[in-house]
Amino acid sequence: MQEAFALTREPNWVLHHEGYSLLSESALESRFALANGFLGMRAARAISRGPTWLSWLGYIKWASWPRCYVAGLFDRPNTVPPVPALVPVADWSRVRILLNGDPLLLSDGEMIAGMRSLDLRRAVLLSELTDRRPSGITGTGCEMRLVSMADRALGLQLLRFSLDRDGIDVRLEANFGMSGLGMEPLRLEPDLGAWHAEGTGESVAMAGAATLRAGGELLLPERPFSLRWVWSWRSVAGQQIEFDRIVAVARGDERDADPGPAAAMALARGRALGWRGVLAAHEAAWGQRWRAADVVVEGDDAVQRALRFAVYHLTSAANPDDETVSVGARALTGDAYFGHVFWDTEIYLLPFYTAVWPEAARAMLTYRFRTLPAARAKAARMGFKGALYAWESADTGEETTPERVMGPDGAMIDILTGQMELHISADVAYAVWQYWRATGDDEFFVAAGAEILLETARFWASRAVMEADGKRHIRHVIGPDEYHEDVDDNAFTNVMGRWNIARALEAIEALRARWPDRAVTLFEKLSLSDDEITDWRDAAERIVTGLDPATGIYEQFAGYDQREPLDLSQYADRKVPIDVVIGRERTQRSQVVKQADVVALMALLPDEFPGAMAEANFRHYEPRTAHGSSLSAGMHALVAARLGDADMALRFLHHAAAADLELDPNSAGGIRIAGLGGVWQAVVLGFAGLDISGETIGIAPRLPPEWRSVSFSVRWRGRPVQVRITAATVRVIVPDGQPMDVRIAGGIRKVDAGAPLEVSLKQATASP
Ligand code: BGC
Repeated sequence: MQEAFALTREPNWVLHHEGYSLLSESALESRFALANGFLGMRAARAISRGPTWLSWLGYIKWASWPRCYVAGLFDRPNTVPPVPALVPVADWSRVRILLNGDPLLLSDGEMIAGMRSLDLRRAVLLSELTDRRPSGITGTGCEMRLVSMADRALGLQLLRFSLDRDGIDVRLEANFGMSGLGMEPLRLEPDLGAWHAEGTGESVAMAGAATLRAGGELLLPERPFSLRWVWSWRSVAGQQIEFDRIVAVARGDERDADPGPAAAMALARGRALGWRGVLAAHEAAWGQRWRAADVVVEGDDAVQRALRFAVYHLTSAANPDDETVSVGARALTGDAYFGHVFWDTEIYLLPFYTAVWPEAARAMLTYRFRTLPAARAKAARMGFKGALYAWESADTGEETTPERVMGPDGAMIDILTGQMELHISADVAYAVWQYWRATGDDEFFVAAGAEILLETARFWASRAVMEADGKRHIRHVIGPDEYHEDVDDNAFTNVMGRWNIARALEAIEALRARWPDRAVTLFEKLSLSDDEITDWRDAAERIVTGLDPATGIYEQFAGYDQREPLDLSQYADRKVPIDVVIGRERTQRSQVVKQADVVALMALLPDEFPGAMAEANFRHYEPRTAHGSSLSAGMHALVAARLGDADMALRFLHHAAAADLELDPNSAGGIRIAGLGGVWQAVVLGFAGLDISGETIGIAPRLPPEWRSVSFSVRWRGRPVQVRITAATVRVIVPDGQPMDVRIAGGIRKVDAGAPLEVSLKQATASP
């Protein structure tokens, strides 16, 4: 078993943490979390752990948050106000060890050595512990855990340990932590348990098998309770104890579903392979993912580590085989945001999936297609046509944004995003369009994508109302900058909405030209008339954008320029968000921007910022932005990189990278996955200048001088393309198929399959 614990020495492939601190434990558990898009598990310690709290000025705070999640398993727990939330399932990694009847708890022993490592390449969590009991008995052990990328229903845990003396009565209990589950048991059998969520009726079954060997001899367990194994023996000094546990999980989506048989079948698959087979298949599946998605940066170890960390969590979050779920704001790594899906997915994550894992992108967009009825219902409820997606979405696509939350001072604050943050509909349309452009997946476009584009465009046309000035306005909204609520004509919202309509008109042309039968059935289904299409054209022409033709600057929303200017450099040392420092009211009255807003628009639609406009807008908004969201820094890095400001871009990139890579207490509720998507985008779409939205794939690099090279692969129109960029050259390999045209720094080159093309950047910029 020892080989399973082999720890990589390559620093860019491993996260390492020594010791144990109550203060950072919760953030560490998020950062080192394991997931495979179906199962998620925080990296809480398995051994010698009890639930741990920390006294906190008058109340109690969780210090350790051992949680396991199943994607798509939602309930309506007792939260106020009530919203669906991802419900935790039984923690299948718990192990209790008793020595002469005393439980081994870290709180009363002496930790001589303790570490946790997350091996990013193999996606396994490794822990080591040497602990001396008050009695003087010393135990040394290591644990390995994974959730399988090869068979997403499976989890695996291995444990190996020894004691330093003979004759101790040892008892090891392997159980499924079931307290705090929030679900009702349906059945509890020796090797299988099933529970259901009372509110939604969704259910889960978990099955397990465990073995233990002492000095190579198999010991038989007692089975006092469902999913619990208890072994007792007398210790021999130095004797190796080896324990393995395979678990299998299945979700039931219907009220009367019994997921038990599916879990039992998955367990049988795992047992047939044995732990070595489960581990080997998992490593092979991750090897494949890394070959597709790794980004190698030579010359900047900090960025290299941040990229590996980002790609690790992005890969862990997705499941191409499940079209009923999408990735929540904290993926499957924590409770914050209740597992809800935001624009984060389409705008911050999808570019990664579309470029390197289109099957995962397609599954997430299909989730949006499946939730289109709920988006239609939301638009209708608000008196509009078409589809308005939920700002926060769970399993059904209904709006799940809490209407009120408690503010830092304990007062309740109304949350208006669920009614006013409309740009989500254009964000979904944007991701659909980018996916179609980059993959050429016509089947998805015809079956689902076109309908999303049309229904979201229809919403914008009905929401953008003609006024006396002959323009169409979109009033009472919240843009990405959530510091400013209930504003009129937010540039991001309006320009994205207008773009959405324009793409829908293109989609109509494409359907009519290439799939006329589908065009007829779809237009009939949607009762889409020529008059309505004419109105969309009118809307696209008349929607106000806030662009000042004299300066080339978009006003973020009507009246923004009249708000109080605030010199953010005066607050550079603050440790908390600006709205906490100066208060909500003053923040709202000022020009301070929470996160990339017009800057995000530049990142998404660079063509809307021709010539000097890009620079002008960035220099205008960057100093006004307080980065009160982890989504902000990556977008700024991307835009600064495209503008050729490598210093500023690197500064933002390091800022974005630090958010979860360092033990920021804000990651206690889960990793901020959108920020990680931002890290990937800043490097690949920013510094490397990848563009997969056109008729040819494009690369326009602007590397920082200290980087020697950047290498990555993407999939474009179904074909792999490998890219390596240095300060002076771009090298492209297309492994097979027809020759491919590639736009390198503006010039078109033909790449023959199997024959690497190396282009000098000086020549490329010189060519037409
Ligand atoms: C940000 C939103 C984001 C949400 C979830 C908020 O703080 O302002 O843009 O969608 O967090 O990550």
